[in-house]
Parts: sequence; C-alpha cells; structure tokens
Amino acid sequence: MNADLMIEVHELTKKFGSVAAVNHISFNVKPNEIIGILGPNGAGKTTTLRMLTGYMPPTSGSAMIAGYDILEDSLEVRQRVGYLPEQVPVYPDMTVRGYVTFWAELRGLRKSRARVDEVLAMVQLESRANSLIRNLSKGMRQRLGLAQAIVHDPPVIILDEPTIGIDPEQVIEVRESVRQLRQNHTILFSTHILSEAEQICDRVLILNAGRIVAAGAPAGLRQQLQAGDHLFAVISGSDTNTIRQTLARISGVESVEVQEAGYTLRVTPGMDIRADVSDAIIQAGYRLLELRPVAMTLEDIFLDIVGRTR
Ligand SMILES: Nc1ncnc2c1ncn2[C@@H]1O[C@H](COP(=O)(O)OP(=O)(O)OP(=O)(O)O)[C@@H](O)[C@H]1O
Ligand SMILES: [Mg+2]
Repeated sequence: MNADLMIEVHELTKKFGSVAAVNHISFNVKPNEIIGILGPNGAGKTTTLRMLTGYMPPTSGSAMIAGYDILEDSLEVRQRVGYLPEQVPVYPDMTVRGYVTFWAELRGLRKSRARVDEVLAMVQLESRANSLIRNLSKGMRQRLGLAQAIVHDPPVIILDEPTIGIDPEQVIEVRESVRQLRQNHTILFSTHILSEAEQICDRVLILNAGRIVAAGAPAGLRQQLQAGDHLFAVISGSDTNTIRQTLARISGVESVEVQEAGYTLRVTPGMDIRADVSDAIIQAGYRLLELRPVAMTLEDIFLDIVGRTR
C-alpha cells in the first residue's frame, strides 16, 4: 500500500448480467482531498460508491481504503468510511438525537452522548435534537444523514448526491457542512451539478457509461478541454438549413448547432479548421461575418464529453 494515498482504485469493475455498470476504473485520492464524481443518470456513480464503502463486491479489480482492501477487509473499511447513501433510510418516528445515537451504537461507540451532540452541532441540527424525523425538512434530513455518516469519525466520507432534491438555500447549508469537514477528512461525493463540484472539489472525475472520461482539477479540466474545440460563426444568409449542411460537411466538424445569432460548430479536438470554414462558406456563396472560439462553461464541457462518449 502507498501510505500517501487514502483511496486507491485499480481497474474496478461491476457487471450486472452482461452490462458493466462500472468498467475498469482506476484513480487515487490523497488524504484530505475532496473529489467530485460527476456523471449523468446511470453513469455508475452509485455503484462505484457502494463498492468503495465495502457493501457491494466488485466483479473484478480492487480498491483500498486507508490501506484496507474493500473485499478482504470490508469490516475495517466500514469502520473507516462514513457513507451517506443515495436514499437515506428514514425512521420517521425517531428523534434526531435518537437516530444518530442509534447509528453511533451500531458502530460500537459507547457513551456516545457527547459525540452525538458534537456531530449535531457540526451539521447545525443541535436545536432540532429532540424533533421527530418526520417533522424535518428534506435539507435537514440530508444533514441528519451526514451526521449519521460522520458520527464514528471516519477518515473517509463518501456522499452520494448529498444535495439532490433540496432547495437552493438548503443546498448551501449542506455544502457548508461538507466544507467544514474537509480539513481533516478525505471526501468523495457524487453530483450532477458541475458548479457544485467546482466550488468544493480539489479534483473532479467525470464518469459516463461506467468509464472515467475526464479527470482533473476543475480549472485545469476546463482549460484542457475547451481549447479550440468549439467555434462560433456568424454568416450572412437566410437559408440556415443549407448553411448548416455546408458547415457539417467540413472535415473536422462533428456537429453544427443553429443558434439565434449564428452557428456553433463542435470541432474534433486538435484540428484548426478556421480556413476551411471560411473557404466553404465563400464557395457556397455566403459571407462569413465572424468566426471565433467559444469559451465553454464546465457545464458545456460536461455535456460535450458525455455526448462524445455516448
Ligand atoms: N442492483 C442492480 N442491478 C442491476 N442493474 C443495476 C443495479 N444497480 C445499478 N444498475 C445499473 O447500473 C448502471 C449504473 O447505475 P448507477 O446507479 O451506479 O448510476 P448513477 O450514476 O448513480 O445514476 P444516477 O445519477 O441516476 O443516480 C445503470 O445502468 C443501472 O441501471
Ligand atoms: Mg446514483
């Protein structure tokens, strides 16, 4: 084991029948890093996280958490991981404190009262300690799930879409709770929301159809992927359909999107087709008024990568 790594994932694979939900993924996480796993529905995020928590055995490949093998030492792994599942189990008639105490004791914590109070304060639920879970808002329930995940003070925290389905104000509170944990925890969380990953993460992994299709620090990822890959063209002529077809025929153009003000071309990475675009437009009898690279948002990059790998 590499002592500098808190999570080591090697060729991890999970098949359901003949379908590989997670397909030979490898990545490492250093202590106290915070990593976002991004991907559309069905990408394999939940399956990956379940394997890493020691609850679902992989079909092949391996992973180590804090030096323990998820298959061979799954009990050790579970002690060192806090897990907020996609669907938090709810016990509507339990109190907030009762629920966290229940989990603390399940994890073998005795005399847990002080720790439970500490954790409730961390997720800003101390004032609701005696409320029934049924009376909590969705965002509060999510923070309660977080309290459950961290009560045994695990070095690694794994959160499956912690901000899904809650309103913006509560999203901020959940994010704040996650941020506060970052100082002395290694955190892996999945999300659909790029801006969220960008705000909290040191690094992002983009998962699609069971594979890692891009990885890196949010800023670097943006820089690496946006360069020259999209062009925006303004062309005079009202026959948008013919112009679109003319553009689509240019070698290196992967797709053309007609927009109100012009045309956005998706270009094969690494190709400079600007001269070809101008030639093609002129030959077709139109006039090129403007041609420039498009600055992409992370959202665009995400959709683009997912589109390319689909
Ligand atoms: N227990 C299971 N049995 C069969 N197929 C499964 C099972 N769990 C997941 N899958 C399939 O594996 C693929 C990946 O699913 P997974 O839930 O990991 O994706 P996800 O990225 O978490 O998606 P979402 O964003 O919707 O939560 C999907 O095609 C899903 O249908
Ligand atoms: Mg999921």
